[in-house]
Amino acid sequence: MVKFGGYMLLLFFLFIGLIGCRNVEGIGMNWGTMASHKLPPKVVVQMLKDNNISKVKLFDADENTMKGLAGSDIEVMVAIPNGQLQDMTDYDTAKAWVKKNVTRYNFKGGVNVKYVAVGNEPFLKSYNGSFLNSTFPALQNIQNALNDAGLGDKVKATVPLNADVYESPVNAPFPSAGKFRSDIRSVMSDIVHFLSKNNAPFTVNIYPFLSLQQSPDFPIDYTFFDGGSKPVVDTNGIAYTNVFDANFDTLVSSLKDVGVGDIPIVVGEVGWPTDGDKNANFLLAQRFYNGLMKKLGSNQGTPLRPNQYIEVYLFGLLDEDTKSVAPGDFERHWGIFTYDGQPKYPMDLTGQGLNSSLVGAKDVKYLPLKWCVLNPNASNKTALTDNINYACTYADCTKLGFGSSCNGLDAQGNASYAFNIYYQTQSQKDESCSFQGMAMVTTNNASQGNCNFTIQIATSSSYRLHLWPSSPYHIGPPLLLFAFELVVSFLF
Ligand SMILES: *[C@@H]1O[C@H](CO)[C@@H](O)[C@H](O)[C@H]1NC(C)=O
Ligand SMILES: *[C@@H]1O[C@H](CO)[C@@H](O)[C@H](O)[C@H]1NC(C)=O
Ligand SMILES: *[C@@H]1O[C@H](CO)[C@@H](O)[C@H](O)[C@H]1NC(C)=O
Ligand SMILES: *[C@@H]1O[C@H](CO)[C@@H](O)[C@H](O)[C@H]1NC(C)=O
Ligand SMILES: *[C@@H]1O[C@H](CO)[C@@H](O)[C@H](O)[C@H]1NC(C)=O
Ligand SMILES: *[C@@H]1O[C@H](CO)[C@@H](O)[C@H](O)[C@H]1NC(C)=O
Ligand SMILES: *[C@@H]1O[C@H](CO)[C@@H](O)[C@H](O)[C@H]1NC(C)=O
Ligand SMILES: *[C@@H]1O[C@H](CO)[C@@H](O)[C@H](O)[C@H]1NC(C)=O
Ligand SMILES: *[C@@H]1O[C@H](CO)[C@@H](O)[C@H](O)[C@H]1NC(C)=O
Ligand SMILES: *[C@@H]1O[C@H](CO)[C@@H](O)[C@H](O)[C@H]1NC(C)=O
Repeated sequence: MVKFGGYMLLLFFLFIGLIGCRNVEGIGMNWGTMASHKLPPKVVVQMLKDNNISKVKLFDADENTMKGLAGSDIEVMVAIPNGQLQDMTDYDTAKAWVKKNVTRYNFKGGVNVKYVAVGNEPFLKSYNGSFLNSTFPALQNIQNALNDAGLGDKVKATVPLNADVYESPVNAPFPSAGKFRSDIRSVMSDIVHFLSKNNAPFTVNIYPFLSLQQSPDFPIDYTFFDGGSKPVVDTNGIAYTNVFDANFDTLVSSLKDVGVGDIPIVVGEVGWPTDGDKNANFLLAQRFYNGLMKKLGSNQGTPLRPNQYIEVYLFGLLDEDTKSVAPGDFERHWGIFTYDGQPKYPMDLTGQGLNSSLVGAKDVKYLPLKWCVLNPNASNKTALTDNINYACTYADCTKLGFGSSCNGLDAQGNASYAFNIYYQTQSQKDESCSFQGMAMVTTNNASQGNCNFTIQIATSSSYRLHLWPSSPYHIGPPLLLFAFELVVSFLF
């Protein structure tokens, strides 16, 4: 009886443990800030809290973002951009970085930094090996600086890598045959052994969308999780029905190949864009996330690492209108929220597959409801093309391209779209709606069908200007920020 009771109790705790584990761990989110008009960090942090998002991954250690996160208890991955990797090969510089961007925030009410990302996909083939020599020394210096600062148990350095650092041979295209790319195998081996020694995870970005976007023959169902695709059967008999699992397990095999088969893996980025490509839309994004979240929520793991929680950061939080479009127009449309923090489609982050809505950003301040459009009297076609080109050089016209939500507009519609997006990007400055007299301002919503003519958000500078004019006695957020700064600088 006692034995039985003990067993039941054990089962009970195991069960509670499993459920508890998921609620505590939860999903992470990439928070990029390459936008002409950024939501105030406090607004974003409130939105994260409202959606129970307990982890974020940043691409730098920007002070305003960090101040927004202070006191929230959200786990944070801060980052060192590739351009600073060479500098970090000097130990004193790495130490100064850690002091300024990690240690400084390490107090009660500060920022809960958990990881430092050393570089961002530094071994992408398109970088031609530019960061090949600096990444490993930078990683060592940052982790050693964290260790020396007494933070090594709590904060781990890792390198978010793109999934093309490993591959399977052409004659054995299966996950079980995965190996690191031969040109970087030696440095990859050094990196993973160092990570393993420091109990730090391997971080990888996995993009089923890019598999589809880069090869026209890729079977579309294989990018999703609903089992609709013809399985790929590995030599060990395992059948793969989605490219995420296959890719993840190729990494598991590659890690085993260099002798660290058990190192934890964090998925640093995974997601689906909603515009700027023929496969980038709300329907497919919803289908992808619905399957992904259910998979993650059930802690089923992958065939080579079954029945386990996978730490995952979705890409990304918000659309970013100034990201490079070198890989494609879709780059500016990865957000699960629009640029202004509004949910795009139903999504259940808990993984129960409910048709629930995310909670949008609150207290967003917008510019006035004014659009800039083509003046119907304008007739000079030559000047029109030049003016559209001008607008689209300095503002984000990616929604006008083939396969995008505004692709169906006529020539006049194109011009109005371009003029408006430029006007909004210029924060509605009067002189930015001229275009040699071809444009005019209107207060009628200029949107056409599915093509949304946006109103930009008021940036913090214009917002502050309006709310706190000159009174030095008014205690508003600027003063509070100032107070925070004082606390921080006095403590450290
Ligand atoms: C967040 O978690 C709390 C407590 O578990 C729950 O009541 C709430 O519904 C959750 N909110 C969302 C948006 O999932
Ligand atoms: C801290 O991080 C910021 C933002 O990423 C960076 O510009 C700065 O150089 C870092 N500070 C030091 C001392 O390295
Ligand atoms: C890499 O090399 C290619 C071809 O030589 C060149 O076009 C490209 O600009 C290089 N990229 C970088 C980041 O150096
Ligand atoms: C990296 O080091 C190798 C060998 O020392 C050298 O040949 C190569 O030019 C270096 N690459 C860069 C990008 O500095
Ligand atoms: C999901 O909810 C939205 C409204 O929130 C509704 O329009 C839609 O029909 C629902 N979809 C399903 C499959 O129930
Ligand atoms: C277009 O031209 C007509 C005739 O000159 C004028 O009455 C009208 O106000 C003009 N419309 C705009 C929007 O400028
Ligand atoms: C049309 O615009 C072009 C370029 O601005 C200019 O060179 C040309 O003279 C204009 N034509 C007319 C008829 O106004
Ligand atoms: C509108 O602009 C898009 C993108 O530049 C272009 O593909 C399309 O042909 C244009 N439409 C017209 C009617 O000019
Ligand atoms: C303008 O209209 C579109 C639909 O036609 C709508 O989605 C959008 O929210 C409207 N914009 C504003 C600022 O009301
Ligand atoms: C459409 O525009 C409105 C107002 O500018 C904005 O709030 C909304 O997020 C936009 N919707 C989409 C799907 O871009």
